[in-house]
Amino acid sequence: MERLQKVIANAGIASRRKAEELIKEGRVKVNGHVVRELGTKVAGSDKVEVDEIPIQKEKPVYFLMYKPRGVISSVKDDKGRKVVTDFFPLMEERIYPVGRLDYDTSGLILLTNDGEFANLLMHPRNEIEKSYVAKIQGIPAKESLRKLEKGIMLEDGKTAPAKVKLVSMDKKKQTSIVEIIIHEGRNRQVRRMFAAIGHEVMKLKRERYAFLTLQGLRTGEIRELTPHEVKLMRVAASDSMRKNS
Ligand code: URA
Repeated sequence: MERLQKVIANAGIASRRKAEELIKEGRVKVNGHVVRELGTKVAGSDKVEVDEIPIQKEKPVYFLMYKPRGVISSVKDDKGRKVVTDFFPLMEERIYPVGRLDYDTSGLILLTNDGEFANLLMHPRNEIEKSYVAKIQGIPAKESLRKLEKGIMLEDGKTAPAKVKLVSMDKKKQTSIVEIIIHEGRNRQVRRMFAAIGHEVMKLKRERYAFLTLQGLRTGEIRELTPHEVKLMRVAASDSMRKNS
């Protein structure tokens, strides 16, 4: 279910704000009845009309992108910085990123115009695994990595157990490469987890999201998900929600 104004906006008829005006003006019908409440939720099967004309729903599209560092995971930026949708110049559909990666994090991010799919993947009860590779300052002690594995206290609470592997270390440069697999999606979570054990993250890349990887893509490249992958992602998200309900 999605909010009516979003469905109208996603159909490319008007901006979200203009869609709200259309609703307030009584120009929108759902299943033949005028609806003036902005919070109204509609399902894909509901018939939505604007000025008596049924809206054409956009074809849902699903993309996997290898986000470079120095790009905002958003559809626009007030400061004029590059955003992920700049990599889709010819796209007619109104796509947006599913969740976010920091400006200075690279790696796998999904984009879609399917709000239900995005909501499903971003639901906090979801336990979809995300695998990151971090280059960190210093050489972490085994006990420090154990703390990350068990869960560590951050300002917004203790993190869930994680899988952590020291991949390599450079004793001369005093840096290490660590792989960390988490299933939460808090703001700057990996950076804050390493900060909590006293190691600054110098570089961060998301390499895997559930079963999806960056295989075959170079930085800045994009590919469409196959219908099978979309289906499997839905199953992965629903399964993990069921487990946690
Ligand atoms: N954790 C972070 O710290 N940053 C990201 O972009 C993603 C996870």
